[in-house]
Amino acid sequence: MNKKTVRDIDVKGKKVLVRCDFNVPQDEQGNITDTRRIVASLPTINYLIENGAKVILCSHLGRPKGEVKKEFSLEPVAKELSKQLNKDVKLANDIIGESAKELTANMKEGEVVLLENVRFDKREEENSPEFAKELASLAEVYVNDAFGTSHRAHASTAGVADYLPSAAGFLIEKELEFMGNALENPQRPFVAILGGKKVSDKIGVINALLEKVDTLIIGGAMAYTFFKAQGYEVGNSICELDKLDLALELMEKAKQKGVKLLLPVDTKVGKEFDKDTESKIVKCTEIPEGWEGFDIGTETIEIYKKELENAKTIVWNGPLGLFEFDQFAIGTNEIAKKLATVDAITIIGGGDSAAAIEKIGLSDKMTHISTGGGASLEFLEGKKLPGIECLQDK
Ligand code: 3PG
Repeated sequence: MNKKTVRDIDVKGKKVLVRCDFNVPQDEQGNITDTRRIVASLPTINYLIENGAKVILCSHLGRPKGEVKKEFSLEPVAKELSKQLNKDVKLANDIIGESAKELTANMKEGEVVLLENVRFDKREEENSPEFAKELASLAEVYVNDAFGTSHRAHASTAGVADYLPSAAGFLIEKELEFMGNALENPQRPFVAILGGKKVSDKIGVINALLEKVDTLIIGGAMAYTFFKAQGYEVGNSICELDKLDLALELMEKAKQKGVKLLLPVDTKVGKEFDKDTESKIVKCTEIPEGWEGFDIGTETIEIYKKELENAKTIVWNGPLGLFEFDQFAIGTNEIAKKLATVDAITIIGGGDSAAAIEKIGLSDKMTHISTGGGASLEFLEGKKLPGIECLQDK
């Protein structure tokens, strides 16, 4: 990485503003249900504490759209951080207001303050220079470690770097190292697995990966658009009728590039969108009217597993079925189990694919699970991420 990291700057005695991605899922009582993003931010925070910085953390949580809403408060995060760091993390009850100023005014080395949700101010998402400047005025150095939000050009992820010396944290460094190496220097065969609902969400990444991989495996609801494009009926399955030509073009591109494109051969269909709905496995070319495809079928699972057997690099983004419902999670789970045993570098894009792997307890069997959903997708597409571009070069 050609960007400065926290190792390249002197932080001793300095106030360091660290943008983290503490956008963590919570249950209805406000309990954090997945702490991975918090845990992933600890190496940078601990490094700063150990090196005598005064640590000012900030993050968004959810999409409160510029309004102060209690359910989006970072209070549960402050509690979890205090526990994880084994020290008191004070939560300001605003972002750049009196409380933030007061708590950050006379900090001691190694102290940690967390500002309230930056999206409580609408100027955050507008990337307002005025708001970025105010935020910057709280500190002397800016560190971005919010990989999961690095595809957003917001005040706390990008704008603030105009006013302070800046560097990347260890999480961003690690994400770029693993995903960057997989893309630039893959051990072959290089296999990508792409799932998810819509082809339109994945056009960029399919196009980019067709330039790099040996095999592209397609699953999830987007597969039905490929079948419809070839003239088959897909029943009530999700299908993007305006993307049929595109699906054919992508198939043609794969052929020209010599990339093996694997589509499912069978699919598990259900009567209704319900976890207990009646279901059966049918051929993808024979989906009956009135049924909806929710998972890849058993034959497909075997074909995909065989393909993964010899792979040396595997990148996976997007579940292969409706994994939230147990009876349609089989494809995703079986492929996850396969990834856990193959002798290959396994990289999982964040978001739903990471959640699916966490759900069956296989996270520690993967080489790298990204903390970014949208961000990892944009990175795989080869897009520049504003939260990283804004940082100072080495
Ligand atoms: C995420 O969860 O993908 C990041 O935290 C970004 O959140 P956003 O999509 O609301 O910008």
